[in-house]
Amino acid sequence: MSTQVFVRREVGSLKADDQTLAAYAEAVKVMQGRAASDPTSWAFQAAIHGTLAGAPLAGQNQCQHATWFFVSWHRMFVFQFERIVRAAVIAAGGPSDWALPYWNPELGGARAAIPAAFRSPTTGNPLYVAERAPGINAGHALPRLATTSRNAISRPSFSGAAEFGGGPTAALFQHFQGPTGQLEATPHNAVHGVVGGQSGWMNDPDTAAQDPIFWLHHSNIDRLWAVWTGSGHSNPTDPRWLGQRFRFFDQSGQPVTMTAPQVLDTVADLGYTYDQLVSAGPTIAPVTPPPAQPSLTPAAVRMSDQMRHDPELVGALARPLTLTGDTARADVAIDARAAADALTRLATATPRILLEIHHVRAQGRPGTVYGVYVNLPAAATPAADSSAPATPAAEAVETAEDAAHVGNLSFFGIKRAQAPGGDQQPHGLSLTFDITAVSQAQRAGGQWDDRSVAVTFVPLSLIPPSGEQPAGSGSAVEPPATIGAISLFYA
Ligand code: C2O
Repeated sequence: MSTQVFVRREVGSLKADDQTLAAYAEAVKVMQGRAASDPTSWAFQAAIHGTLAGAPLAGQNQCQHATWFFVSWHRMFVFQFERIVRAAVIAAGGPSDWALPYWNPELGGARAAIPAAFRSPTTGNPLYVAERAPGINAGHALPRLATTSRNAISRPSFSGAAEFGGGPTAALFQHFQGPTGQLEATPHNAVHGVVGGQSGWMNDPDTAAQDPIFWLHHSNIDRLWAVWTGSGHSNPTDPRWLGQRFRFFDQSGQPVTMTAPQVLDTVADLGYTYDQLVSAGPTIAPVTPPPAQPSLTPAAVRMSDQMRHDPELVGALARPLTLTGDTARADVAIDARAAADALTRLATATPRILLEIHHVRAQGRPGTVYGVYVNLPAAATPAADSSAPATPAAEAVETAEDAAHVGNLSFFGIKRAQAPGGDQQPHGLSLTFDITAVSQAQRAGGQWDDRSVAVTFVPLSLIPPSGEQPAGSGSAVEPPATIGAISLFYA
């Protein structure tokens, strides 16, 4: 039995003579040449994630989003894909230690753009696809706030409202119904949104995995899960999470079944690691691990679900808010009586404050990703991203706008949510942000009002290489999106 540990490396650090990307390109071409019914073909692998085909084959359309299976399912998926690619690399005489690299746009500077090997339209470059947002293939950088892992990595728990990994989720395949984990929201969904835009593949789960950059993006998301668990955090011990079985195909095209306990330790369980297991953001202090929880029986899980305090609604926007690609603001009033009652029931003067963006719907697929801000100072112009600092040191500087940024709204998965198929009801997207820390800082600075909270949505733009014009969205008109409800909760 081999004890080899494969190392997934940051794509921007690969030397000019490194074979990793050339070997990947060759393997993509080989896989693209296989029959679409072959589970090891490029088409089939992408369709395991999602397909627009009216009659998907067995094992296709499996991706888990807005559920607490998001990180575990994608780890299994990318692991099996990597084995299929490695087998093709070796068959073509490439490096036998080939591992999938990762793309970490949070590193900033040139690394915030798609790597050059994926942008060159040289005839027959299997890593290039034209179906990306305007500007992406010209090397425009992703907006910093779309790529940050800071909020996700700082979440103390895996599951629960606005926590790292989403859930708990009762059922499978509640595609995009929530509760979405913070890692999934940003950077995961936000990067899908800005790379795919309005009509590119990456912004739709039914086409995303056809883009070769998808796999390097997911290698990075998987790395961030390893960073989070490696800094003293705990994965769920709930048998519903641990016991769920998922089906994939190995490098010989044979079906394999996987469960979460088989993938929790990438080195011991799966034989791979990353060259860097730190987040690119400010150093996160390790958390004190909570006392180990005994595994819960299903009955005990139901009990603990019931005993958990439900968040208390204290304010909601009375009308829907429409987004059309421009900045939009909603003032959410806090009901004094509801707030006082909530504090009594929660028996605290300093509750957690949750902001929920609910029932997000659109005709078609908006290509914009919005930064979501709480009490954004009127003078601040968060188009500040266009003056993106080029050095990591400068990027560490927190601006007044950054301090009011609580997360992002993107539209990855909105079509699937509204037309989920099967026996599911169509629904909108939902997101929850924990705004407690932001509100405390604002209270200390005299910017917090206990009667009303301003929620502002600001489109995040790609950053052109210096001297070039920002890429517009062309002549494409942004399909309007509607936010059905914006609510504030004490918890
Ligand atoms: Cu299942 Cu990045 O998507």
